[in-house]
Amino acid sequence: MAKKKSIIDFYNMKASGDKVCWLTSYDFPTAQFAEAAGLDMILVGDSLGMCVYGYKGTVPVTMDQCIVHCEAVRRGAPNTFIVGDMPFMSYQTSDEAAVENAGRFLKEADVDAIKLEGGVRVASRIKAIVEAGIVVIGHIGLTPQSSGALGGHKAQGRTAKDAAMVVEDALAVQEAGAQMLLVEAVPPEVAQYITETLTIPVFSIGAGKECDGQLLIVSDLIGQFQAFTPKFVKKYCDVAGIVTDAMKAYCKDVRGGSFPEDQHCYHMIEGEKEKFLSEMKK
Ligand code: KIV
Repeated sequence: MAKKKSIIDFYNMKASGDKVCWLTSYDFPTAQFAEAAGLDMILVGDSLGMCVYGYKGTVPVTMDQCIVHCEAVRRGAPNTFIVGDMPFMSYQTSDEAAVENAGRFLKEADVDAIKLEGGVRVASRIKAIVEAGIVVIGHIGLTPQSSGALGGHKAQGRTAKDAAMVVEDALAVQEAGAQMLLVEAVPPEVAQYITETLTIPVFSIGAGKECDGQLLIVSDLIGQFQAFTPKFVKKYCDVAGIVTDAMKAYCKDVRGGSFPEDQHCYHMIEGEKEKFLSEMKK
């Protein structure tokens, strides 16, 4: 069994150029698969709102939901670095609320780090959480919780002016003490500049290959989430198709009488059938 990685390993990987692989997971079996596959890190993202609960976005997701899913993922992946994702309104109101909710992830779900969205505007929250001794991963660029304010799920930093703002956010996250940074949906040129400028590991989701590692949403990667597929996703299998076909085959078998077969039945112990039938006649 591979040893659980720590942030020191992620810093060493940045120095040596070894890429960090992470994926989201929301449940026990998927976390088991991720650990068996050798993922370095798992994010229990608030994307669970869409991928598990069928909400339109991440805004309705609560702390309690995040904690329950983190607990399940920890049980499935006891030797993997797990990141809890702070949901909307769990850190926006005050530094105190941010520290309290970040602490819940560690105390109740045994995660290794938390992630929160925003750069300059959440610098004091990051500082407060880091001062409480909790490992923080910043998240800038396209930040889904504030996609309304960004005008939708749009790539960020595509003009020189906007790119400079993304860089300003990246510097603010590092300055506030975050130990790692995730950059979402920004041009690879901008992500590369950030990766080379910052001393902390910088990871990409839709930000090109020059970062220190990559994240994808597991439901996209396995072809389970069907509402939409962002441009940056590579589908590695078609779970929706595989599962739907299996269900169709099951219905066909049941309706046609070919399931269950004898091998799927628990027969009575030898000699008991006759006793049973004569008992029923009494
Ligand atoms: O919730 C999540 O899965 C995320 C990713 C989109 C980065 O925050």
